[in-house]
Amino acid sequence: MQGHPVTAPETFPLPPFPSDFRWGVATSSYQIEGAAAQDGRAPSIWDTFSKTPGKVVNGDTGDVACDHYNRLESDLDMIQSLGVDSYRFSIAWSRVQPLGYGAWNEKGLDFYERLVDGLLKRGIAPFATLYHWDLPQGLQDLQQGWEARDTAYRFADYAQRMGKLLGDRVASIATHNEPWCTATLGYDQGVFAPGKKDVPAMLRVSHHLLLSHGLALQAMRAVGVKAPLGIVLNQSPTTAATDSPADQARAQREYDRFVRWYMDPIFNKAYPQGPELAQPDNIQDGDFDIIAQPLDFLGINYYTRIWASTSTPPVPAPNKDGVSDMGWENYAQGLSDLLQGIHRDYTLPPIYITENGFAEADKVVDGRVNDPGRQAYMQTHLKALLEAMDAGVDVRGFFYWSLMDNFEWACGYDKRFGLVHVDYATQQRTLKDSALRYRAFIARQRKR
Ligand code: FCB
Repeated sequence: MQGHPVTAPETFPLPPFPSDFRWGVATSSYQIEGAAAQDGRAPSIWDTFSKTPGKVVNGDTGDVACDHYNRLESDLDMIQSLGVDSYRFSIAWSRVQPLGYGAWNEKGLDFYERLVDGLLKRGIAPFATLYHWDLPQGLQDLQQGWEARDTAYRFADYAQRMGKLLGDRVASIATHNEPWCTATLGYDQGVFAPGKKDVPAMLRVSHHLLLSHGLALQAMRAVGVKAPLGIVLNQSPTTAATDSPADQARAQREYDRFVRWYMDPIFNKAYPQGPELAQPDNIQDGDFDIIAQPLDFLGINYYTRIWASTSTPPVPAPNKDGVSDMGWENYAQGLSDLLQGIHRDYTLPPIYITENGFAEADKVVDGRVNDPGRQAYMQTHLKALLEAMDAGVDVRGFFYWSLMDNFEWACGYDKRFGLVHVDYATQQRTLKDSALRYRAFIARQRKR
């Protein structure tokens, strides 16, 4: 590992967070593990999708990724070297239960035990996510994956098994990561696995995802899982480009589809209603009672706001604070606005910011990676987070996305979100300046 500082880096000039606030970094299984065919892991829908020509930039796949599966111990040392007290990861379902039903894979289960125990040994709290988009291909082949109601029951079985295995050692278990992405990007826009463009299917999938979340919480609680249980949702406030009624209505509709579509069933037992909000055709009696299980925590992933313009061509977003390498506007105020909005609209459990991060085209120069954009993004977003907390939002922790550069889905290895740079040819890891800065900041917070 390279990139240790010659001089002590500056911290972020921010007021103190609460002394028990958790500081972490986040990853997900398919994006970092590699070892796609090792030790009994079977393909997931992302293996299939990434190998379909034209779906991922440069034809990249997660076959090797950061080879984290084979570098577990040194990667755990690297996480520890960042000075974080928490680490969010996801479990690859097809590593622990290759087909998504039937037999379990001991070597896969053992990997996540070693991961959790290795974190605990280093004084780092493990935050597990059960589903970060890598559905076993076996379930896709058997019954069209999330289009089948039965997949929600398979997910609950898997959750129960993982809850029994790890529930006394992890700091929390989230069912899904960003179900909006699974449904909308996977079944409407077709840019994520399984790559369909079918709106009724997307609506049915969104309902099965929520149902599976509720069933999983019930299944884990039925066997006495001790870890706090919740879900991770990606959320953004929406801004109408102008005062025109059309732009205002568009902004509201985007918010309904993006934020309220997943929040309302969980907290209010209904989907948002409206002329442009088609409802799923697969809701059964009692489903909302299953979905609306009490949450011990809510994870929020925030990257940017949604800009709503109905003009042709659209009125551009001002982007005054710059855009990331993804083309996403750097809009920190949106984090505060979002949190204050949901705090006003719902009765919420404690919140964790489970992802927030910035893509920059980083390069290693003389063993160092200078990433000013990422540092500016972090500083402004942490400041916005404090603003929301001062306004009364109960936020307990922050996880930067991501620990290291990794397989950024349809963008392949082209986009770099890490605090740690990865040279994919050598698997050399180099701490970026942002990592040193985050470490100095966390150390300073602890000393206060
Ligand atoms: C989120 C995903 C995460 C990563 C970031 C950039 O939507 O949860 O895996 O790709 O975006």
